[in-house]
Amino acid sequence: MGQHKNKLKRIGFSSSFGILAATLGSAVGLGNIWKFPYLTGANGGAGFLLVYLLATLLVGLPVMIAEIALGRQAKANPISAFEALSPKRQPWWLIGAAGMLAAFLILSFYSEVVAWVFAYVVKAISGSILSSDRHVTEAAFNALISDPLQSLLWQWAVLLFIGGILLLGVTKGIEALTKKLMPLLFALLLLLCMVSLTLDKAAEGLAFLFNPDFSKITASVVLTAVGLAFFKLSVGMGTMMTYGSYFRDDQDISLTTLRVMGADLCVSMLAGIAIFPAVFTFGFAPGAGPALVFITIPAVFSQIPMGQLLMVLFFVLAAVAATGAMLSLMEVPVVIFHERFGLSRPRATLLTIVLLAGLGSSCALTNSTLEDFKLFGMTMFDLFDFVSSNILLPAGGIFIALFVGWVWGIDNFRKAVTNQGMLANETTARIVFFLLRYVTPVLVLVVMLKGLKLF
Ligand code: PFF
Repeated sequence: MGQHKNKLKRIGFSSSFGILAATLGSAVGLGNIWKFPYLTGANGGAGFLLVYLLATLLVGLPVMIAEIALGRQAKANPISAFEALSPKRQPWWLIGAAGMLAAFLILSFYSEVVAWVFAYVVKAISGSILSSDRHVTEAAFNALISDPLQSLLWQWAVLLFIGGILLLGVTKGIEALTKKLMPLLFALLLLLCMVSLTLDKAAEGLAFLFNPDFSKITASVVLTAVGLAFFKLSVGMGTMMTYGSYFRDDQDISLTTLRVMGADLCVSMLAGIAIFPAVFTFGFAPGAGPALVFITIPAVFSQIPMGQLLMVLFFVLAAVAATGAMLSLMEVPVVIFHERFGLSRPRATLLTIVLLAGLGSSCALTNSTLEDFKLFGMTMFDLFDFVSSNILLPAGGIFIALFVGWVWGIDNFRKAVTNQGMLANETTARIVFFLLRYVTPVLVLVVMLKGLKLF
């Protein structure tokens, strides 16, 4: 199996901007536009936001730098990379294998939410969901998610679409597309914020987002925030390692990571600023859960000038964001099947799509045929989301941090972060290494055990 990796010629990202766009494209996704607003809404607003910020700095940032450094050093998929970088007979490659499992679980429910987004682009264009009556927009959403055939077909269409882009390859597919899409995303989001800020109760929405109330912060809320930090930055499962393996050797890893983190945060805040004023103005509950965006947004846009056009833009924007994230998620199994099992890239992509169409259907049918099918009291959609965000990604983060901090060591890490001494990143390397060795693993472990009520 492993011998294939040396025979394959690896192609990477070609330019510095391309690297930034692709990495940011992975980080920015429905995590920002769909998950972040509803989790912030459900967990009390600004207090949650603060915990999330801390988690990003102390956990997300170091793990992301670690992953990219490991990936670039090994220039291989996550499983082979750990094998190549760890001492003989130590099973660190299992982190890569767990990452592949996480990718399948996340993709199963994520592709369904992307399916709703794509369906909403079409519905927005046809005008069928434009209504100021929230019961109408609620009924429209419920009609979509409870229709098994529509849910499945939209999900499969999404998988084929993303698979098609992956077939174009890393440079011509992922890099070329994200370079065009990321600037578009920012422009659309800014436009929507400007509209939202002119609404009646904009101030109330902003207060909800920015005035902290710590009474809602429990151990499980902290775990949710940490899980969200991992999910939003696409770390803890080898995605960033995979992208790191396409990084150029002269790219500044820590600077790129900081930029991605900053821009990702900006997109989340802008999404919050676009959504919460609207939620308050039109009398929705901020804690409405996963349906928040799909029910509020149409109701909001139906009440403002040029609403239909703006709504089309909003869902196009969500689709754009989701595309970059989906590409990076699917790239993980594709490159593993390609490099470890010797399948050609097209075959590896096809296999991934077929496996996902099977596993993902358990999430697509969660609101219809499989409504009553529950494991541990959760539907497959909720279970896959819970297991990946609250267990696999944080656990992956702990082991990646431990690997760099205690196995790979400061010398290798410093060389990677300073590009073999070419960049003046010594201090950054030392601080991040300290976090990886002592702070991140302990912090995430305590949060996980407390959040899961294991002690
Ligand atoms: N970061 C993406 C988002 O916020 O939507 C989701 C994601 C992509 C998670 C890639 C994990 C991953 F590996």
